[in-house]
Amino acid sequence: MSGLFITFEGTEGGGKSTQVALLADRLRKLGHRARVLREPGGTPIGEGIRHLLKHHPANEVMMPEAELLLMNASRAQLVLEVIRPALTAGEIVLCDRFYDSTTAYQGYGRQLNLDLVKSVIDFAVGRTRPHLTLLLHVPPPVSEARRQARQTAAGGPRDRFEEADRAFFRRVELGFQHIAEAEPERVLVIDATQSIEAVHDDIWRHVAARLSPAG
Ligand code: TMP
Repeated sequence: MSGLFITFEGTEGGGKSTQVALLADRLRKLGHRARVLREPGGTPIGEGIRHLLKHHPANEVMMPEAELLLMNASRAQLVLEVIRPALTAGEIVLCDRFYDSTTAYQGYGRQLNLDLVKSVIDFAVGRTRPHLTLLLHVPPPVSEARRQARQTAAGGPRDRFEEADRAFFRRVELGFQHIAEAEPERVLVIDATQSIEAVHDDIWRHVAARLSPAG
């Protein structure tokens, strides 16, 4: 038996977590076993790494190389501890970000060598690859406005990534575009400027086409 592995990608403000939750809900109502994960994180070790990456007081001086390796340390743990066993058991795994985020953020955004980035990813995930990737796309000005609104609402200190500059996010966006162009069968671009319900309907059409009967 082997399950279905679906990842959600995109720049900040595309509504990924909302869409992951809606899809998981719908799948469960139909009797499927759906597991929701996020990156970095998803395991106790990974959540520790997430906290280090996003909130550690010293992370202002974290080097892109260290960031790349920490993202993939979290990922290797998640793949081996959770994703592979879940897929082997026939579950549907929904992951809020996966390795395309590393290519887009550390490769294109932080401008690390793309071949090196790929080697690190390959080492972290081995043969475990998403069957389907939903790239929630919002134009950069929309993403930026949503990012700022989130920061204001949170009221707290802005984390490392949310403080990064506009040019960085434009490079990240370009990275996601290149990924989608390079692998059009796996990576589907969803217009995330639509209403939450319309985005969900788009996602559902693609996912439903790939489902085996529940049970
Ligand atoms: P989020 O889960 O709130 O989107 O925060 C995760 C942040 O980490 C987000 O800014 C994207 C970034 N990230 C990377 O830079 N590389 C990665 O490989 C992953 C998974 C996330």
